[in-house]
Amino acid sequence: MAHFNSSDKPMDFDRGFVIDFDLKTGLSKTLETGKRYLGQMNGMFADQDAYDEKMKEGDPLIYEFHSMPVPETDGDLAFGCSIVNPGKVGDEYYFTKGHFHTILETGEIYYCLKGHGYMMMENPEGDWLALELTAGKAVYVPKRYAHRSINVSAHEQLITFFVFRADAGHDYGTIETKGYRKLLVEQDGKPVIIDNPNWK
Ligand code: NI
Repeated sequence: MAHFNSSDKPMDFDRGFVIDFDLKTGLSKTLETGKRYLGQMNGMFADQDAYDEKMKEGDPLIYEFHSMPVPETDGDLAFGCSIVNPGKVGDEYYFTKGHFHTILETGEIYYCLKGHGYMMMENPEGDWLALELTAGKAVYVPKRYAHRSINVSAHEQLITFFVFRADAGHDYGTIETKGYRKLLVEQDGKPVIIDNPNWK
């Protein structure tokens, strides 16, 4: 039985489906998001005193993202939106934890729907780059590069749509342990890249 219009159809990874993402919020009525609060990112921001101070005021939501029940095969694709709130810990902008793929030789696409930010990327060999994200820009994350979205806007969410090979897997531990080589901080009201003083 063919479907002509099927946006109310359940997710069917064998026959196709449609998901609506709200362009203003990145959210979907049918797909839940995972949420990351500041308290889940202890030790990841460079200024630990600023982190501790901010935690005393509450535990703000830093970002959320869709996690899709896609079969983890090399022929399927996982996708969804990542939504990073505006804010800073000390001078450092809010970011996603960032990860390598468990299958290191897999890339990813991020298409920016809204906001202003950077995709911070680095590979195990030490090459790094930060590519700008504004609405309409698509960033290609090459295989072997860890990737982290950073929101440099003072008031607007950074919303990106991502697609990656469904079996790629996520390695968060390496970044949580070592950190990134470079940080994006605000100096004189502008985003600036500095060396991470805590990089191991
Ligand atoms: Ni990824």
